[in-house]
Amino acid sequence: MQYIVKDDFNGISAAAYDIYADFIKKNSGAILGLATGSTPIGLYKLLIDGYKNKELDFSQISSFNLDEYVGLDPKNENSYNSFMWKHLFDHINIRPENVHIPSGQGENLKNNCREYDRLIASSGGIDLMLLGIGENGHIAFNEPAKSLKANTHVVNLCPDTIEVNSRFFDNSDDVPKQAITMGLSQILKSKRIVLLASGRKKAKAIARLIKEEEISCSFPVSFLRVHTKTTIILDKEAASLL
Ligand code: GLP
Repeated sequence: MQYIVKDDFNGISAAAYDIYADFIKKNSGAILGLATGSTPIGLYKLLIDGYKNKELDFSQISSFNLDEYVGLDPKNENSYNSFMWKHLFDHINIRPENVHIPSGQGENLKNNCREYDRLIASSGGIDLMLLGIGENGHIAFNEPAKSLKANTHVVNLCPDTIEVNSRFFDNSDDVPKQAITMGLSQILKSKRIVLLASGRKKAKAIARLIKEEEISCSFPVSFLRVHTKTTIILDKEAASLL
């Protein structure tokens, strides 16, 4: 795990863009793992600019998103599906058939999970995984718990995650209580990982991640310590307790 500190949100977005632009140019058929949340939006804007000014071509790129709420229609504006089309896919030349987002709908969510893992495995696995971090140390929706599940699974969201994410909904009662998330196995098998963190609210979790050595299910992001090619990109506020 190495980390770099940039001045602000624009700085971390630009640093992440440099990694992505270089990677996509060298690997035109790359499999990208993608994240939602406010943190990756700056990077996504730059990727759209990169496509528009003909620096980047996404025609052979495939993507797998980390997670999705259970029970939200993909067209619901708060679904991660809608988020990804709005903030990235609608503006680049990625082929819709190459876009993968877990489905939180249907009778048999376990089947959706197995199918998602099968698709990731048959694609050859994720080359470059983008992560954010929850204030409680979650990655994707792998919430702090006594034990964690390795593969894609349904998870009950923690009350504090529901509270934090309620800012996107009319009120906290509207936030789904469950989500489908990739497990630590899919994340840690990624050949390269880039984690972005911005703002003072992330400073505690970042300090714990970088300063401590313990790997614990109660702090899921700590599992990144076993990954050999992870780059953490922080702004000064997120790095303020280091
Ligand atoms: C959600 C997502 C995570 C994301 C986290 C942080 O809970 N499931 O993948 O990393 O929020 O979001 P933000 O970037 O808005 O702080």
